[in-house]
Parts: sequence; C-alpha cells; structure tokens
Amino acid sequence: MNKHSTTPVITIDGPTASGKGTVAALVAAHLGWQILDSGALYRLTALACLRQGVDTNEIDAVAQVARQLDVNFDQGRCFLGAEDVTDALRAEKIGLLASQVAAYPAVRDALLARQRDFQQGAGLVADGRDMGTVVFPDAPLKIFLVADVQSRAQRRYNQLIEKGVSANLLDLLADLQARDLRDTSRAVAPLKAAPDAYIIDSTTLSINDTVDQVLQYWAKKQN
Ligand code: DC
Repeated sequence: MNKHSTTPVITIDGPTASGKGTVAALVAAHLGWQILDSGALYRLTALACLRQGVDTNEIDAVAQVARQLDVNFDQGRCFLGAEDVTDALRAEKIGLLASQVAAYPAVRDALLARQRDFQQGAGLVADGRDMGTVVFPDAPLKIFLVADVQSRAQRRYNQLIEKGVSANLLDLLADLQARDLRDTSRAVAPLKAAPDAYIIDSTTLSINDTVDQVLQYWAKKQN
C-alpha cells in the first residue's frame, strides 16, 4: 500500500473470467469508491507493443513500453494516447499477450507505482492477480474470487455471444487453462490468495450474491 495514503483498499484477486471485474465495479459503485482494473494495464502494455511493432519476446523493449504508457481512464473508458481502446483491450489475443508480458518482472516493476497512485479519495477497489499479495499488501479487506474453469469459460462464451462476437466454447476453455497455468506458475507475483484473503467460490453464486458477500465482509471490518 502507498505508505502516504490512508485511503482504504479492497483487493479482489482471482483467475481470468472469475467475474472479479464486474464484482469490483459493483462494489466500488455501492461504496462510491474508485476502481483499479490492473489487468487493463497489462493489456494496454500488450496492445501498445502491437501498435508500436515491439516484439513481445524482447523483455527490455516491452518494459520500456510499460514505463512510457500514455494511459487515461475516463468514465469507464480507457484511452491509449487519444484513442479509445476500451473494446480493443478485451480481445482474447490481447489477453493472452497480456499474460505473456505480465510474467516479466521488469514489466511488473514498471507498472507498480502507477497502480499505487490509484489509492486516492474515499476508497479504492483494486482487481487483478496480485493486488492483495504485492501491490496493496496492507489492504484492510482482501478477496480471492474463484470459480471452476468450465463455468468461467461458459460465462465468457455467453458474454461474447451477447455482444454478437462469434466464439467457440472449447477454444475459450483451452485459452483459460493456458492463462491460468501461466498466471499461477510464473516466478514473480503469481496468482495466489494472500494468507489473509477471504476466498469466495462464485461457481454457483450470482454476481449480486457475490457482491453482497464482499459488502458483508467489509461491513464486518467496520464493527
Ligand atoms: O484480468 P485480465 O484478464 O484483464 O488480465 C490480463 C492478464 O494480465 C492476465 O492474464 C494476467 C495479467 N495480470 C497480472 O499479471 N496481474 C494483475 N494484477 C492483473 C492482470
């Protein structure tokens, strides 16, 4: 946690498509807090590499891109320079590349201070993989959100179909498994629950039930 900030932080970590982004946004809206979608920073780094023709196998060059990211978040939209890249960031290809560049320690270092700068105002809900373990280790409430891989693939499939994007359930399942493996087995800041995190399994919970559960944990912390 940023030692100079007294802004409370709720961290929500978990694997890809566990619903943490949606849950984080609803918890933040309920509390009137800011949100940090840390995965977007890794996706932005991957997208900026593609745009600038930087080979994502070149670690130093990728870290340089991460350090120099010209990013703006505004009312739920995400801008790279002047371009609104909110939708481009969600492509499966960008997610896979993000997972690759996120394994580079130099890239994680480059993005650390930028993430901690979000700790301002009334409160922050931060979602990602290492929010509770590395970025905000002193956060007063840490959540680790899990769901079995089949149900995550099905949710992702439904989202894409709803948006009119064609999708293949088996391909999505294979992508998620590859990303889970990479995110949990990397040497630096692997996906894992902080020892003091509450684990919520959302496999059979609705989004609203999951949000309520987080808010109940937060309310308990206030007593
Ligand atoms: O949450 P997401 O799917 O947008 O994240 C994209 C990738 O970024 C994911 O595969 C792993 C990486 N990531 C990370 O390593 N650490 C974070 N705090 C957030 C995301």
